[in-house]
Amino acid sequence: MSLNAVPGAKGGIPGLGHVPRLLRDPLGVLRSLHAEGPVLRLDIGTMPVIVVTSADTVNEVLVRYARSFVKGRMFERVRPLAGNGLASSDGPYHRRNRRLIQPMFYKERLAGYADVMREHAQILADAWSDGQIIDANKVMGTYAIETLTATLFSTDIGRPAVRSVREDLPVLHKYLLLRALAPKALDKLPIWRAFDRSAARMRAVFDQAIATTRASGPEDRTDLLSLLLSARDDTGAGLTDAEILDELTTMLFAGTETVASILAWALYHLGQHPDVEEELLREIDKVVGDRAVTIADVPQLPSITRVLDEVIRLHGAVTTMRRTTEEVTIGGYSIPAETEVLLSLYALHRNPDLYPDPDRFDPDRWLPERTAARPREHVVPFGAGAHKCIGDKFAWMEATITLATILPRWQLRSVPGSKPPKEATAAVAHPTRVPMVIHRRRNH
Ligand code: HEM
Repeated sequence: MSLNAVPGAKGGIPGLGHVPRLLRDPLGVLRSLHAEGPVLRLDIGTMPVIVVTSADTVNEVLVRYARSFVKGRMFERVRPLAGNGLASSDGPYHRRNRRLIQPMFYKERLAGYADVMREHAQILADAWSDGQIIDANKVMGTYAIETLTATLFSTDIGRPAVRSVREDLPVLHKYLLLRALAPKALDKLPIWRAFDRSAARMRAVFDQAIATTRASGPEDRTDLLSLLLSARDDTGAGLTDAEILDELTTMLFAGTETVASILAWALYHLGQHPDVEEELLREIDKVVGDRAVTIADVPQLPSITRVLDEVIRLHGAVTTMRRTTEEVTIGGYSIPAETEVLLSLYALHRNPDLYPDPDRFDPDRWLPERTAARPREHVVPFGAGAHKCIGDKFAWMEATITLATILPRWQLRSVPGSKPPKEATAAVAHPTRVPMVIHRRRNH
């Protein structure tokens, strides 16, 4: 069984494959691929990787034939860091832990996290001053870390953990995708020293926080770490300290840069589209008025949801990967066992057949009458199937509460003359610098 029947993507060079093309413009390559076909072969040097770009083929990999896949190389390479957390584990182990952890993201629990989010959004909004210039990407990066760590750890125990996350997580995020894709032979290079130091420190500090929380009696607490410690399956067994360490690290990786990126891009696009911003302000004023935002407001703010839907379409998760465990047919092509498969969510969400003028920011694409024509499996910013993002509602709630708290008080505009942000090639297409100037709104 070989992969020769699968059409090769354009621009391959003997020996190097598509590496030069990928190094030049990785996001450009990912988005152009959908026009070349629903299933393609990319050669990373001599290693073939199958890329699926259409809604049908993505659905076949993530849902329909999910049993023939495991997470594969991209996740194995980050395992020393995120261990066997939900994002990198498979099979019965994943199913059991997912079942234990899922209730922590039920509606009743989200209400508790909403209070923490609102508090942090208010602290952020209180700290700004009229005329101040910020880099929205940096500010939202720190904000997302502070907010998630505040829901993960109870305040009295978690301080050293919060400090470590604040310092170490940005170092780890910066190099994570590179580390995941680089060959193992390069692990000893000195460039990884800062990465390894930060990883070791963060895990050591978490170990301490887990031990202290377990000893303090977590049953009465509602922070995520205490809930992880109290979770029990049908047999009465819970998660071990090592498993909890993996899940904490995974949540921090999965739930900070992603949320920060969505918020920074949302602020940028709203600054470019005062008409859309005006609509949001009217809605927030009507629904929330002068009081603090609550979880009950979130579904009453559909204009914010549309803005977030559009931001995540444009700049959400770029890709994820899987590996076949047996021969499987995808998009009509037979793919042998042990093949690495890359899913280009980026290509899917910028498909001009579904999203005319796909690079344009247009939240109205998400008006109910227009979404009805788009099949649900075409929209997968949080993945699909058994590994679908566990934090999707958490992330939407956090982003909505943040925007509804900040926007009525502050107007954010790009610094005149500054260049538009570019998309960085990381796990999500987060922006490079987003210089913005802040003005206090007159009615506040
Ligand atoms: C806008 C923000 C977010 C985006 C775009 C996002 C995107 C994703 C995607 C695409 C996946 C699936 C990956 C795959 O199938 O390989 C995923 C999984 C996951 N996400 Fe998120 N995520 C976000 C926020 C969060 C938050 C806030 C948390 C936690 C608090 C979180 C925790 C997780 C976990 C634990 C998984 C693995 C689930 C499993 O495999 O069972 N994510 N996320």
